[in-house]
Amino acid sequence: MARFSREIIDSVLERTDLVRLIESRLSLKKKGKDYWACCPFHQEKTASFSVSPDKQIYYCFGCHAHGNALDFLMNYERLDFLEALESLAEQAGVPLPKEPGSAATLPDQSSALRKALEESLALYREALSQHPKAAAYWDSRGVSPDSREVFALGYAPPEELILSRLGRQREKREQLVAAGVLGIGEGGRYYERFRGRVIFAIRDARGRLCGLAGRSMDGREPKYLNSPETPLYHKGQILYGLDRARAGIRRLGKALLVEGYLDVISLHQAGFDNAVAASGTALTAMQLENLFRASPELILCFDGDQAGRLAAQRAIALSPEHLRPGRLLRVLLLPNGEDPDSLIRQQGSDAFAKLLESARPALDFYLEVLQDNFDLTRTDELAQFRRQAREFVGRVADADLREVLIERLAAIPGVRLPRKRPQAPRIVAPNHPQWRQEWARVLALFLAFPAAPAWQQVDQTLLARHADEREELQALQRALEISANLHHLTPQSLCLALAKEADGEKFLALSAVFSGELWSETMVESTVQWINGELSRLRSVALGRLGDRLGPGALSIEERQELLRHLGRKKRPKTVKGA
Ligand code: UTP
Ligand code: MN
Repeated sequence: MARFSREIIDSVLERTDLVRLIESRLSLKKKGKDYWACCPFHQEKTASFSVSPDKQIYYCFGCHAHGNALDFLMNYERLDFLEALESLAEQAGVPLPKEPGSAATLPDQSSALRKALEESLALYREALSQHPKAAAYWDSRGVSPDSREVFALGYAPPEELILSRLGRQREKREQLVAAGVLGIGEGGRYYERFRGRVIFAIRDARGRLCGLAGRSMDGREPKYLNSPETPLYHKGQILYGLDRARAGIRRLGKALLVEGYLDVISLHQAGFDNAVAASGTALTAMQLENLFRASPELILCFDGDQAGRLAAQRAIALSPEHLRPGRLLRVLLLPNGEDPDSLIRQQGSDAFAKLLESARPALDFYLEVLQDNFDLTRTDELAQFRRQAREFVGRVADADLREVLIERLAAIPGVRLPRKRPQAPRIVAPNHPQWRQEWARVLALFLAFPAAPAWQQVDQTLLARHADEREELQALQRALEISANLHHLTPQSLCLALAKEADGEKFLALSAVFSGELWSETMVESTVQWINGELSRLRSVALGRLGDRLGPGALSIEERQELLRHLGRKKRPKTVKGA
């Protein structure tokens, strides 16, 4: 990759027509603005693979495969990057600069980063053997010397180590920064990211080191620090322990997904060597699909507290499209406040094995939790439940399972579901049924016309203040932020940049779902007004709550005036005008 500049790659892509490229390999049908086919990357009978001529990207609603022409060729023809680029360049008539032997001799950036990581890990492991305090920590956590070897655990001492031992040359320092081992702090000074923490080695499915994580030993926050996103480490894709779990998965016929690094290690140590964990993030659709490819049966194992339940619900919400015939998904909620590590240490592995047997079908669990959110004796709530349940069940890829679920739901008084699966993808954002329709439209409009000047008018202060309250606001904030950093802002460049995000595929799904809408850039202005209206409403609610909580006299005069001003704004636009 080092051989070709971004400009050359872009010029090849600009001269390539993705639709023609795919059309010569798959049979495409035009529907609206986009083209559809049965996805070549997973087995299916109805077409959920979409190709957008405007954005020059493809996206599959079933398996979430996505990308541009290069990605398509690499995945479809199993070419590496250079081969795919050469093939496209030839078809497009773009001459590629030729330097004899350069591709083979030029140092590849990834291998330099990996080397920097490996050298750092070697130092951290050496430090573990030299610091009794760190060894004592692993003892206290019940991690055997054997597991320390197998999982390549280490220790980053509080004093300087990486900088003095590896960072003498500037180039090396830069590689250490790119690999996430060093950070650059205020005043441009280097710091060692993981200092004073015990170290976990994060490997990809093939066992190659791609990142590190460090746990604090003294209660300092954050408890865990992970590598930042680097060319080697994409947290939304990695499953911690998968390289070690393959044999166990084959032997036991199933995989166990748990929440923490230490859970994985404890489980392997206790003989449950089919355990893996997401690393430093909620489970993503990509991780789920990767895991299902490694194991047809999967047990999700979460803490039984409120946060664990929510995490389980979110993980299951991702699953229907991945539940093809032959795949099984079950869920196990552990007793409140316990994780597999604490449970095994207190009650032993037999107790854990027993609990595992009580794992329940995940979709049953999901629908029950969903049902608990509604009062089904009220017609309005019943309708809401029915809509959400229908949407969820309609996404299930296994027709037999879908049918059983529909029958099961029909037994609930007042709930009847259609037998047929919706034909076209009607879901707003497949992984995020909780995204409200109007916000989904706002985000899709942004993806269609990211360069419209009116977006500058979004009230960024209010947006930042309320972003944690709604996932849609966070998404908008992130999309605005990313678009501000793009040199050449187009729907296509934005989509590709967003696709690289951990949860980027919901943006792609959005833009694909709405790509048939007849929108125009002139709608952006009224939409931005609507956004600011919503933000200001959130602000008044928050201020009102604050006022209630603190009692009279708690707000300053300015705050009270602001509150009154907001409350006085009775009328607000109800929907995105025209959008
Ligand atoms: P937990 O807080 O449940 O910790 O985080 P744990 O795994 O039980 O760890 P111990 O037993 O206290 O040592 C679960 C996972 O969430 C991620 C890590 O991957 C962790 O293993 N996490 C947690 C972070 O990335 N950052 C944090 O600050 C906390
Ligand atoms: Mn724990």
